Amino acid sequence: MSDYKRLEGLDVSGKKVLVRVDYNVKIKEGKIKDDTRITSSLDTINHLIKNKAKVILMSHLGRPQEDIAKGKSLEEVKKASTLSPVAAHLSELIKKEVKLAPDCVGPETEKFVDDMEEGDILLLENLRWHKEEEENDESFAKSLSEVYDIYVLDGFGIAHRTNASTAATPLYMLDQKKEVVAGFLLEKELRLWSDAREKQGNKLLVIGGAKLKEKTKAISKLYKSVDSVLVGGAVFNIVMAGKGIDVGDSLVKEKDKDYTEKGKEISENADNLLLAYKAVIAKKEDYSDIRTISIEEGIPQGYMIADLIIDEKLKAEIAKAQVVIWFGNIGISDIEVEGSFPFSKGTEDFKNAINPEAYVVVGGGDSVTASKGLKRRVISTGGGASIKLYTKGTLDGIEALKGNKDFFKK
Ligand code: 3PG
Repeated sequence: MSDYKRLEGLDVSGKKVLVRVDYNVKIKEGKIKDDTRITSSLDTINHLIKNKAKVILMSHLGRPQEDIAKGKSLEEVKKASTLSPVAAHLSELIKKEVKLAPDCVGPETEKFVDDMEEGDILLLENLRWHKEEEENDESFAKSLSEVYDIYVLDGFGIAHRTNASTAATPLYMLDQKKEVVAGFLLEKELRLWSDAREKQGNKLLVIGGAKLKEKTKAISKLYKSVDSVLVGGAVFNIVMAGKGIDVGDSLVKEKDKDYTEKGKEISENADNLLLAYKAVIAKKEDYSDIRTISIEEGIPQGYMIADLIIDEKLKAEIAKAQVVIWFGNIGISDIEVEGSFPFSKGTEDFKNAINPEAYVVVGGGDSVTASKGLKRRVISTGGGASIKLYTKGTLDGIEALKGNKDFFKK
């Protein structure tokens, strides 16, 4: 299998270049909460503008299909998941107009593309308004890419998904003998994670946050290659559920698959887990009645584990690490209740316990925000993508760039 091609050195002048970025950022009242993913894409964008390309950016935002499945109308969902604030923010950053097409496919969008001059930028609307995106649908990929000359994958954070924009589209464009290449951010991230894998010293793996699929796989695969694993977030909940503790209404499921068995397997096999003994719990419906309890007491129904207590014993273990690989936060640190963040202390205490000389590699949006201020910090724009790359050594999007159709047959 040949390697993937690179953007560097490619003639893009006058070409319509379709760039898959990951602008899946948190937005509150129309404002971007953390723009790391947007600023990280600027090297590729500025290179394309400078070299007179017509730059067409495409991204997803959130999980609109889940909201549709819960009964929300498409109109409501579109309003809540428009990329309009991102277009405005990007425009401010690059001091240039960024137009927003009303959709990612269709005649109206193509009209926007037809009207572009060299050096112009167009952002397509949320790819996930179409369920075909997450189904990796081939005819959707065809509609998505027919009018473009070059495909660039630069959204590292989405490169672990087999979506139409990361898999079927580059494969189709390769079949059409079009150029399909890796952007600068993607390449930078690949170097970052390959360096992280090589680092020597006492290693601490931190697995927290809300999403479970890649994280449970990561623990099962990686616990033997690190000195210890600090567990937080949803993974902590399933490990406790696996030990037979009642976790009340804490998150233990992802996409309706029960992970309790997985939690049991992790707690029985991984002998180097660092587990908190006390938790901060709150009522699930409105985060009220916040209390600290011993986990073995069990969590009452209607309540959820919202944060963990990082005690002195855990702090001493954390301080031993010379290399920290940090995927996901300890508690739900981004939840704001009456102007404060009552569940951010676990993550803050963990961060403060890290040896200031330790090399810390951080993957994932919330962890990147929480890790600000660490002296030897290297940040990645990917959460799930970082974990998958660190664990498996490759990503779906990279295999698509290589034209590796067999990879997708599994
Ligand atoms: C992320 O934020 O991890 C990526 O944008 C992927 O989003 P997803 O987990 O909804 O596919």
